[in-house]
Amino acid sequence: MALLISPSVLSCDFANIQRDVEMINSSSADWFHVDVMDGVFVPNISFGFPVIAAIKKHATKPLDVHLMIANPDQYIEEFKKAGADILTVHYEACPHLHRTIQAIKAAGMKAGVALNPHTPVDLLQDVIRELDLVLIMSVNPGFGGQKFIQNAVLKVEQAKNLIHRFGSHALVEVDGGVNLETGTELVKAGADVLVAGSFVFGSSDPKATIADLKSI
Ligand code: DX5
Ligand code: ZN
Repeated sequence: MALLISPSVLSCDFANIQRDVEMINSSSADWFHVDVMDGVFVPNISFGFPVIAAIKKHATKPLDVHLMIANPDQYIEEFKKAGADILTVHYEACPHLHRTIQAIKAAGMKAGVALNPHTPVDLLQDVIRELDLVLIMSVNPGFGGQKFIQNAVLKVEQAKNLIHRFGSHALVEVDGGVNLETGTELVKAGADVLVAGSFVFGSSDPKATIADLKSI
């Protein structure tokens, strides 16, 4: 399968959000990565439903929504209404993860589960067949522009093994500190989707940077 690129709009210029969304539309990116932070599950607050709906209004590609929030269950329908196509919750935020995954799918979205850097991949073995996406965090969630945690490469391999072992169709996505160098290692390890925020939006030619990532 071709590598998918999901630029993180957390690093875009919020005063020019339409411009940046259109840049992604016309680039070789596949999805929009949309980071929602609540100041409780992670020590930062990003944005909520109105901003997601504004992105959706202009986006011509799927919204890959990454929830870094406590109690995501109570907002699943709202995220669908705001325009989420893929909804990813954190393993660490969901005591009834199986139920949460079913609720996401029942709402008409693809379901993903994200793992913090300290959370073992094997903990997903009883739900792996239900999942469309496994999101390996390669930084501690909360901020763009952090340093890549090398152990994520090993976790990508472990996630691919788990997926094969259980006959799951889930894709493996990696988020945090992705650039051409770390991206190449991750793809070698089996990553299907790369998220990149500061590497794309901090470059002088974001569209060319997306194309570079796409051609890894
Ligand atoms: C971090 C977010 C990431 C962030 C990645 O908590 O989940 O999606 O935007 O940013 P970079 O690519 O700059 O590490
Ligand atoms: Zn993210």
